[in-house]
Amino acid sequence: MREFNSILVTGGAGFIGSHVIRTLLKERPQANLVNLDALTYAGNLTNLRDVEANPNYTFVKGDIQDKALVTQLFETHQFDAVVHLAAESHVDRSIENPMAFLETNILGTATLLNAAKNAWMGSEGDRCFYHISTDEVYGSLGAEGLFTEETAYDPRSPYSSSKASSDHLVRAWHHTYGLPIVISNCSNNYGAYQFPEKLIPLMIRNIRDERPLPVYGEGINVRDWLWVEDHASAIDVILHRGENGKTYNIGGLNEWKNIDLVHELIRLVDAALDREVGSSLKLITFVKDRAGHDLRYAIDASRIENELGWTPSITFEQGLAATVDWYLKNSEWLDSVTSGQYQQYYETMYSNRG
Ligand code: NAD
Ligand code: DAU
Repeated sequence: MREFNSILVTGGAGFIGSHVIRTLLKERPQANLVNLDALTYAGNLTNLRDVEANPNYTFVKGDIQDKALVTQLFETHQFDAVVHLAAESHVDRSIENPMAFLETNILGTATLLNAAKNAWMGSEGDRCFYHISTDEVYGSLGAEGLFTEETAYDPRSPYSSSKASSDHLVRAWHHTYGLPIVISNCSNNYGAYQFPEKLIPLMIRNIRDERPLPVYGEGINVRDWLWVEDHASAIDVILHRGENGKTYNIGGLNEWKNIDLVHELIRLVDAALDREVGSSLKLITFVKDRAGHDLRYAIDASRIENELGWTPSITFEQGLAATVDWYLKNSEWLDSVTSGQYQQYYETMYSNRG
């Protein structure tokens, strides 16, 4: 097992990044962490309020594409590991504005790779550039089958193709320059602090507020859901025990059709708000489908289980109940992150879906 003393986490103010920071601070008390985040609409320092005073934690506001800043951070902090999460992450936004995805996800990753290469080449000791990627790079499944680490890449949205490009760059820096790397490709995450443009928090919020529940197409698309804290624990395991150059798929073997998941959320939120269970079913509104909507994602996570001994710690039933509870108890968070600019985005995105 490797240990690292100085870790650069990018995108730590976002949904998954904030859980990763919390997990690493807890599990690796010897390590200093620098969180580099541009604080886009998706980044929020209140996600990290409970750890901001930790002496091992430093926040730096900045863009991963800023070569001078990234180089200076490597010099100052002598990082021995990078956990790279910063990205534009929402598929619908990538359809509206692909260029922002190419800039951050491709050029930003290349900037970090070059900085790591320049800082680490010729030096001694364990180093690791860990790139956090997505199962969407593998494309879309039919009714059968699972994505393995050998599945050929077939990304189909501007988001997933920008993530696929970044995965290729990371492997290229490994093969060409010998940069020590690991990559993981994970399925859909859910849990606390997820920006409510994503399915689960968006639905919880709209059920709470008795607003229409926009289900794309016929709601038959399937996603494989994993509790975000389990993703963070998998990242900790891969960072410290993953094999140099290797890819690991992460998933929960937990497939849900969107419409079934929306029904389940209605059941949980109605019950929690002491409404008649099922009374919110009337809010379901089938809207125009997402362009190029991938039908099904499902992960074969046997490599991480067999080689590193990682499995999810809780069931979907437990995780979803805890998640609904968290959003209903943290209405202030939900309302503050969705004010202003997001309201405008929401109106534009959903007004033309009809
Ligand atoms: P998110 O959108 O919640 O957070 C992204 C973070 O990156 C934000 O804090 C944002 O401010 C920051 N950021 C964006 N552009 C930046 C830039 N140019 N420079 C510095 N910081 C920047 O995303 P998330 O859902 O937490 O996803 C994190 C990573 O995990 C992404 O790489 C994503 O592709 C991957 N991933 C996400 C999921 C999921 O279900 N959410 C699943 C698998 C993989
Ligand atoms: O699979 C991993 C990916 O999961 C990550 O790489 C992405 O960053 C993350 O955003 C997520 O992508 P999805 O597109 O699967 O997630 P989203 O929550 O946007 O949508 C989940 C499903 O729900 C999808 O089939 C589209 C549908 N949907 C979504 C929204 C926002 C709706 O039916 N209505 C909605 O309003």
